[in-house]
Amino acid sequence: MKHIILTAVLALAVTSGCTRKSDTAAGGGTEKASANEILVGEYGSLTGSEATFGISTSNGIKMALDEVNKAGGVKGKQIKLITLDNQGKSEEAAAAVTRLITQNGVTAVLGEVASSRSMAAAPIAQQNKIPMISPSSTNPKVTEVGDYIFRVCFIDPFQGTVMAKFASENLKAKKVAILRDVKSDYSVGLADFFIKKFKDLGGEIVSDQSYQSGEMDFKAQLTQIKAAKPDAVFVPGYYTEVGLIARQARQLGLTVPLMGGDGWDSSKLFEIGGTAINGNYFSNHYTTESTEPVVVEFIKKYKERYGDTPDGLAALGYDSAKVLVEAMARTADLKPSQIRDEIAKTKDFNGVTGKITIDAQRNAVKPAVIVKVDGNINRFVTTIAP
Ligand code: PHE
Repeated sequence: MKHIILTAVLALAVTSGCTRKSDTAAGGGTEKASANEILVGEYGSLTGSEATFGISTSNGIKMALDEVNKAGGVKGKQIKLITLDNQGKSEEAAAAVTRLITQNGVTAVLGEVASSRSMAAAPIAQQNKIPMISPSSTNPKVTEVGDYIFRVCFIDPFQGTVMAKFASENLKAKKVAILRDVKSDYSVGLADFFIKKFKDLGGEIVSDQSYQSGEMDFKAQLTQIKAAKPDAVFVPGYYTEVGLIARQARQLGLTVPLMGGDGWDSSKLFEIGGTAINGNYFSNHYTTESTEPVVVEFIKKYKERYGDTPDGLAALGYDSAKVLVEAMARTADLKPSQIRDEIAKTKDFNGVTGKITIDAQRNAVKPAVIVKVDGNINRFVTTIAP
């Protein structure tokens, strides 16, 4: 009998496809909250070509929740986090959120980083009326899924504008080429928002090339781009491909500045891109060079705990968990619908990534920073307010 049950549990774990990784929970993945606990679910890319996104975010979330638990928890209850790995796949993201809600019975969900994966999972949270906060998905469509879906980061119409202005005003670029990932809603959207603003500013798009995430050879696209003689190239992708693109661009003698968005933010960017990535620019959610007390304190605590400098993902993960907890604390009895209402009321929350106020579309309106890659350090260049 025991054997049969074990086999059934294993079969379930295999068919549902998501690996469980949790600090706090043991067992077959069907744990429910005990009377003095609140269950929070997290889903992210802990493995795969965007693994640093999931790992950093999870580090930030865990640090925030441990602080809360140490200080007594929320309404006398401890928060228990269940983290599921989706391997960077949209289908797995949806499976993970289904499992967190229907099997574990979580009260709220944190995730994802990549917009495509947030968009795959958000409808499940919405249908089940469980609030979800994406720490860092920037495509507008994510929160358009419904009134239970929030984010604590800015959105891509703004991020695209920021980089278009930077290209035009700071780099004095007149002609820009685009290289976008057509499999990523984030990349496609950000490219479009950039183009719109850059044209408004009088700029010209001389080439618009594409690739699909997972590809490793970008020489054909880069050769076309080089022939179009741009002043700069906008590459709104994720770090693995961006690192390779930078290398291949320089190998082909394409030496103009490369520009990107938050998807470049990874400790692996320099590892993959090598010196070819140096001197290029991207927009991001925070800078480690800030002197704001809340940022300095966060970096210090994170380094003590993880021995590493926190990237923007870690900072956003931390902020998303803190915003959720503060909302929970304001409810009468921790019902998901009440938590939803309280998240919606978040105003001037003093986050590591800036002041967070949730607007009527359930997005955060915040400034962006532009940084310049210099080895493993992203040097602060400028802040651009909405
Ligand atoms: N904004 C990206 C998206 O929506 C995800 C991301 C955020 C990546 C922050 C890196 C840093 O897909």
